[in-house]
Amino acid sequence: MKGIITAGGAGTRLNPVTLALSKQLVPVYDKPMIYYPLATLMEAGVRDILIISTPLDLPQYERLLGDGSDYGLSLHYAVQQAPQGIAQAFHIGREFLAGGPASLILGDNVFYAHHLPAQTQEAARRNDGATIFGYKVRDPERYGVMEFDAAGNVISLEEKPENPKSHYAVVGLYFYDHRVTDIAAELRPSARGEYEITDVNKAYLEMNRLRAETLDGVDWLDTGTHESLLEASNFIRAIEQRRGMKVACLEGIAYQSGWITADDLVRRATQLGKTDYAAYLRRLAEGTK
Ligand code: G1P
Repeated sequence: MKGIITAGGAGTRLNPVTLALSKQLVPVYDKPMIYYPLATLMEAGVRDILIISTPLDLPQYERLLGDGSDYGLSLHYAVQQAPQGIAQAFHIGREFLAGGPASLILGDNVFYAHHLPAQTQEAARRNDGATIFGYKVRDPERYGVMEFDAAGNVISLEEKPENPKSHYAVVGLYFYDHRVTDIAAELRPSARGEYEITDVNKAYLEMNRLRAETLDGVDWLDTGTHESLLEASNFIRAIEQRRGMKVACLEGIAYQSGWITADDLVRRATQLGKTDYAAYLRRLAEGTK
């Protein structure tokens, strides 16, 4: 399965930080934000990935991540000329996906969980329908919201409703079958002028091919405000310090997946100089982490 990461958008709530820096490049503790969603896709087993951003910001992502070979990936880049909604990713990614299934993650969605890979790998293997994930939040009106019936089936989906029908937000990680490109091509812009990802999910719901799972025991970190970003950084720092490991270490995931070698890790550590991150890569290569 191929993957798409969206890293456009103005991130105006983080101004002045994001006046000259793309939101998904802002650090979450010790690495750029985009590392986290990229790691989430990698852990789902997705290696062929398209990164979409603005004409101005896209070169920065290319500089940061290159062709992906450092992480055992094949990375591609595409420009979003004007921000017209998340589902536009499937218009832009049409050729890249070539009629195949697709996973999509929003570049500002940071997850932390041990068992998430098991859930996402299974979602990536399903080849009929779509899989989305619900996460219980205090402020559902900020998100896409899913409503369940007593049997746990989704009965409605709404984008940023004024009166949410549940506390379950739809997180920014989606797995779709081969139908997604055509479904996205049929969409009309919403009242706020965007191609809504919620409308793609509704199309699957109407076809009775939407599977929704809840993310239990997973931390979905908010990165939308200075306050929440600092909290996310502190959270990652606490885990890394306590466990002596790195969260969302791309080279580490690639190594553990057998996509790169111990020599590759050491080479990469040399590039990264005298940092904790490089020391961690060396420990991984030596098998002493
Ligand atoms: C987008 C989606 C929304 C989803 C959210 C998750 O909203 O439109 O359905 O719940 O991402 O992060 P945005 O954050 O772009 O406003």
